[in-house]
Amino acid sequence: MIDGKRNGKVAFITGANRGLGLETARELGKQGIVVILGARDPEKGEAAAAKLRDEGVTAEGLGFDVTKSQDHQKAYEYFAKNYDRLDILVNNAGVLKESQAGSGPNQTSAVPLEILRETFETNFFAPVALTQKLLPVIRKAPAGRIVNVSSILGSLTLHSNPNSPIYAFKTFAYDASKAALNAFTIHLAHELRDSKIKVNSAHPGWVKTEMGGPNAPMEPSEGGKTSAQLATVADDGPNGGFLHLGQPLPW
Ligand SMILES: NC(=O)c1ccc[n+]([C@@H]2O[C@H](COP(=O)([O-])OP(=O)(O)OC[C@H]3O[C@@H](n4cnc5c(N)ncnc54)[C@H](OP(=O)(O)O)[C@@H]3O)[C@@H](O)[C@H]2O)c1
Repeated sequence: MIDGKRNGKVAFITGANRGLGLETARELGKQGIVVILGARDPEKGEAAAAKLRDEGVTAEGLGFDVTKSQDHQKAYEYFAKNYDRLDILVNNAGVLKESQAGSGPNQTSAVPLEILRETFETNFFAPVALTQKLLPVIRKAPAGRIVNVSSILGSLTLHSNPNSPIYAFKTFAYDASKAALNAFTIHLAHELRDSKIKVNSAHPGWVKTEMGGPNAPMEPSEGGKTSAQLATVADDGPNGGFLHLGQPLPW
């Protein structure tokens, strides 16, 4: 266990060895929150945590594959035993497996079911199962926060509007998985509405990461801001929302 009392909060970020997960961990860590970096390759997770520690952040890596239920149990035991609570869960790990991502033609009618299933496994079933497993320790925190890292590409309203900026970006498996994740946000937030826990969906922006690609307009250093904001949202802040940098997005 590492010192969990710096500002009294501990956060778990999945897929935090690189990309937006690492940036979110950095943002939260700089606020004095202890950050635990989930990474399916433990060495990469530990290397990322070491980088943050060099920057003054209290960070630790945890070998964690979001699609493995035994890893969900491992995470539950880690937080129950070491902290007896979990203040912040950021369901960040995600995949985009469709090759036409970004600019290619719409291939919805030909998407292999395997791609659809694999995408849903990581982007939808895994965060649902992990959240269910960790909820008992999140309930023990004074004001738990759950952030589901979604995407503007999960917006059915924008996808169906020919004038929207994402109208041409039809990556069916990815988009549908994020729409399903948004449904989870709404439903869980409703169930927990009388508790101190808040559940929100984040759209980080289109960011230069391995997933976002080199043409994305936002720098990685900006990419963790929305998730970090929702992870630390005030008690009178949104619950069951879908936001980008404080602005609500249409579902
Ligand atoms: N970049 C964007 O423009 C953008 C826009 C909207 C939403 N998002 C969302 O933001 C989140 C992070 O995206 P990113 O841009 O940072 O992508 P990225 O650079 O491709 O990083 C993805 C992260 O997820 C991890 N991951 C994937 N499958 C995993 C698994 N089964 N178990 C554990 N970790 C797993 C990867 O680990 P490995 O290193 O082991 O592969 C990596 O750490 C995703 O949910 C994505 O959908 C991104």
